[in-house]
Amino acid sequence: MGGGYKSSISTLIIFISTIILYILSTNAEFTPSDNYLIDCGSPQTTILDDGRTFKSDAQSVPFLSTEENILAGSTSLSGNISLPLYKTARIFNTESVYKFLVFRPGRHFLRLYFHPLPHQEYNLTSSVFTVKTDDGLVLLHDFSTSQSSGMLKEYLINVTSDEFSLIFSPLKKSIAFVNAIEFVSAPNELVPDTATIVSPPGVFTGVSGYDLQVVHRVNVGGPMITPKNDTLSRTWMSDDHGYMVFPKGDKVVSVDPSVVNYPVGGATRLIAPDRVYSSAASMADSGVSVPNFNLTWEMKVDPGFDYLIRLHFCDIVSASLNSLYFNVYVNGFSAVSGLDLSTLTSDLAMAYYKDFVVNASMVLNGVIRVQVGPSDMESMTPNAILNGLEIMKMSSSVGSLDGLFSSGKSSHDGSHRLTMTIIEAIGVAIGAIMLLVLVFSIIRRKNKARGWDEGGNSFTSWFLPRNASYCSSLLSSKSKSKNAYSSVFFSKVGLGRSFSFNELRDATKNFDESAVIGVGGFGKVYIGEIEEGKKLAIKRGNPRSSQGINEFQTEIELLSKLRHRHLVSLIGYCDENNEMILVYEYMANGPLRDHLYGSKPALPTLTWRQRLEISIGAARGLHYLHTGGSSQGIIHRDVKTTNILLDDNFIAKVSDFGLSKTGPALDQTHVSTAVKGSFGYLDPEYFRRQQLTEKSDVYSFGVVLFEILCARPALDPTLPREQVNLAEWAMQKQRKGIIETIVDPTIAKTISSESLIKYVEAAEKCLAEYGVDRPSMGDVLWNLEFSLQLQDASLQLDHPQEDDETCKGKMISKNEVSDVSVLVNDDSGVVIGSPLFSKMEDIQGR
Ligand SMILES: *[C@@H]1O[C@H](CO)[C@@H](O)[C@H](O)[C@H]1NC(C)=O
Ligand SMILES: *[C@@H]1O[C@H](CO)[C@@H](O)[C@H](O)[C@H]1NC(C)=O
Repeated sequence: MGGGYKSSISTLIIFISTIILYILSTNAEFTPSDNYLIDCGSPQTTILDDGRTFKSDAQSVPFLSTEENILAGSTSLSGNISLPLYKTARIFNTESVYKFLVFRPGRHFLRLYFHPLPHQEYNLTSSVFTVKTDDGLVLLHDFSTSQSSGMLKEYLINVTSDEFSLIFSPLKKSIAFVNAIEFVSAPNELVPDTATIVSPPGVFTGVSGYDLQVVHRVNVGGPMITPKNDTLSRTWMSDDHGYMVFPKGDKVVSVDPSVVNYPVGGATRLIAPDRVYSSAASMADSGVSVPNFNLTWEMKVDPGFDYLIRLHFCDIVSASLNSLYFNVYVNGFSAVSGLDLSTLTSDLAMAYYKDFVVNASMVLNGVIRVQVGPSDMESMTPNAILNGLEIMKMSSSVGSLDGLFSSGKSSHDGSHRLTMTIIEAIGVAIGAIMLLVLVFSIIRRKNKARGWDEGGNSFTSWFLPRNASYCSSLLSSKSKSKNAYSSVFFSKVGLGRSFSFNELRDATKNFDESAVIGVGGFGKVYIGEIEEGKKLAIKRGNPRSSQGINEFQTEIELLSKLRHRHLVSLIGYCDENNEMILVYEYMANGPLRDHLYGSKPALPTLTWRQRLEISIGAARGLHYLHTGGSSQGIIHRDVKTTNILLDDNFIAKVSDFGLSKTGPALDQTHVSTAVKGSFGYLDPEYFRRQQLTEKSDVYSFGVVLFEILCARPALDPTLPREQVNLAEWAMQKQRKGIIETIVDPTIAKTISSESLIKYVEAAEKCLAEYGVDRPSMGDVLWNLEFSLQLQDASLQLDHPQEDDETCKGKMISKNEVSDVSVLVNDDSGVVIGSPLFSKMEDIQGR
């Protein structure tokens, strides 16, 4: 009895562990190391029906170079487009860059969503633009879309460096836009290095050196599969979209998805979900009297490119092994003769896929035709099946996935390409002529010939000059910004609301001392409440101070031109009774400094993440000042922790533009001016030479960064002499490699060392002796965002299960059996034509 009991327990254990193993092996989840989902132009985070969270690109990740906040939005999308991602777009009128940090180089999915929304100023349907990557891969060349439905472009890019930039370049006088971006790591196994060459037969190696665009992905014989039901968030179209040339000839076969098996080595659920393998088109018993024909699919593709074709098979039709043999053809050439799934997989219902490469010369007419038909072998019933089909465009030898010109991605070996298509030949000829013209003009101007000897990279980049559109629009759209101002200034510049003096007096209880929240050289700042309890910050100038009048005017002039999430915004003004009163949004959490040290009573400690976000916000505000606000840029001149204010959500905003100056004009390198600013933050070079550049702000910001890190004032005369000046002291510690000894002890333990290194590196560079050695605010911003990501990454490592807003792109942990089984349950409900994706049929190809 006892033995039987024991053995039944061990049987049970074996049984359970087999189940667990089975679940683990067949439900292999993939956790992408890079997972950027961005809803462009959206004011908030968007959560899709499939559970994915798309962040707004106004939130700080990833880095977006443009600060022109042109957004298009539409609350009601016309019936057939219901994907919420299409509701907003970001519009670019100059070349703009999304920059992503890459944690793990390798294959990445890049998905771009386009839907031309209505906008009062810009016509998105007439936009023409190019999208490329920083190493020159052209994804879209002179692209335009007038489609009223949404369009998704999907790429599989092999990213080799630790940064990835996506560059949107509008054609001259045009604009670019994008509605959403996904940039997500793909499993390396997804695109193996070798494939079968269709003609002449052979083995193709080096697929991993190519970037791919997915142009068709079909779940043959089955329903559409939406991202919700695909671990890698892919969309598989159903077969009834006219791909099949002779639809009457096929019989759709399907089995329960749980019947599908995955081999050890070979196809996995990541290659294709079981729903792809559990349905097929087959030819036998299809009610056609002559069973000897081919099942044929035809798909439109762009000519002039090589294609990678992936066919998915799973024998769900045979009653026993060794009864199914068939031929596979691509564009009339034999791809496999006598495909024998039984031998290849040794089982029925076993997933199998095979990759083929077809040469551009075989797709001259812009069609790829895939056929399966009975082989000559003596089998019981002639039959042939196909379960899934993917067609991917391979990047051309000049690094392009659209059009024939490149902007200079290093070329592939390309030795397999023997024929040049006519279109390519024409393209090359035009290119050669353009090149000749260029060569002549360059020789004539005797310009620096630098770069010519670097081979293809430099001259091909002339075809798509990176800065051309930027320069032109700088001149055209921004030159009007220098408003001459006069006594009727207010009425001219649209300063928002005009307040009456009485209104503001009532709001501040007759400018009562108890309402004072700040005092500056210019006057006092009061908190005021007007109707419906709306709080305002009211800055009242001291009429006796002539300096005050200047600063007042400067601030109005500048602020009237500036609008940015990270600049304190002006709501209105009052100029009655010779008063100089400015009304701002009220920043509930006050100056950053109060949250670092010195306030009484002490405020709660800011976490490292909060401090990073605040420094990123402030850096964004300054970056905008330097680059985005006017043609010349604006130098703040008084960057310090009391001028960085925090709103009720601890969003940092730069304030106090009283000392600000417009930057040097284009032909000058600096502005000569009397030295102003605050001690402890002053750029030594500016002090010495009295020449102001935006690098002086960068210096001051470096001091701010150390203040945030160390939670002490920039100058503290009560300390021992070598510690008085924070910038000097911190740099000294950094040179000795012991910066961690001066980090704010209340948070020191929570900072990941990688994050700290990156942050201090940024701060240190800001404090370089000479302005030219200091980074731009854009670079500082970039490093701070990197630091934030490193901090988040370390948190994810420490707490893999923590489901926290701070952990971007979290997926279910591979080791959690319970989580995996949740996924199994999740898989059991078929969602066909869910409203989210009901219009996805138009998204692939174009
Ligand atoms: C990406 O490209 C590099 C260099 O060509 C190659 O070594 C690597 O294997 C590729 N990775 C993948 C996942 O294809
Ligand atoms: C199937 O297609 C191939 C290639 O187009 C052709 O050679 C073959 O004759 C066709 N088979 C049948 C039975 O029509």
